[in-house]
Amino acid sequence: MSGSNILFQLTGSIACYKACSVISKLVQDGFTVKTAATESALRFIGPATLEGLTREPVYADLFEGRKALEHVELTQWYDLAIVCPATANILGKFAGGIGDDCVSTLFLAHDFKKPFLIAPAMNSRMLAHPAVQRSISVLKGWGVSVLGTGTGRQACGDSGPGRMLEPGEIHAAILKALKA
Ligand SMILES: Cc1cc2nc3c(=O)[nH]c(=O)nc-3n(C[C@H](O)[C@H](O)[C@H](O)COP(=O)(O)O)c2cc1C
Repeated sequence: MSGSNILFQLTGSIACYKACSVISKLVQDGFTVKTAATESALRFIGPATLEGLTREPVYADLFEGRKALEHVELTQWYDLAIVCPATANILGKFAGGIGDDCVSTLFLAHDFKKPFLIAPAMNSRMLAHPAVQRSISVLKGWGVSVLGTGTGRQACGDSGPGRMLEPGEIHAAILKALKA
């Protein structure tokens, strides 16, 4: 379904660099991609990269004048939303109904008739933590597609599950969800 609108959201993980290749591929496919990012995500990757890839402004600050109330319009605009990479923190906020930044507030306005994908990225101990497992279970129960993770060496030096899926796998999951 090239021509669909995708909201691509990033949270604070080293895997933000991998997310950029997914965004680039989606733009090349002909999708219109807008990005939203947490403050932490913007410490891993700059807004210039996201804006350069998408030719669209990044949504990061709910209170930025020009963008006030655009978050509700944004949730009506997209055909699919994805959080990639998704931190342990954002999973907990989503599952707890917290909306204290742009990404978590957008989720509270999500229409569950549309696909919402999450690509977790974290240390294997964080992934195994009962708080994170509970968040994933709550989100799946609401109909969110929580993608798996890969196993292997992590940025912290540990090895195990929790590595974000590779860009090609995430791209394929998005196309599948859009039936493109
Ligand atoms: C170098 C570095 C790498 C990090 N990588 C991850 C990660 O992959 N997954 C994760 O859940 N948190 C990671 N964190 C911690 C989060 O960035 C931190 O919990 C932050 O508050 C998340 O904010 P956000 O969910 O609003 O983006 C990392 C922190 C640092 C400093």
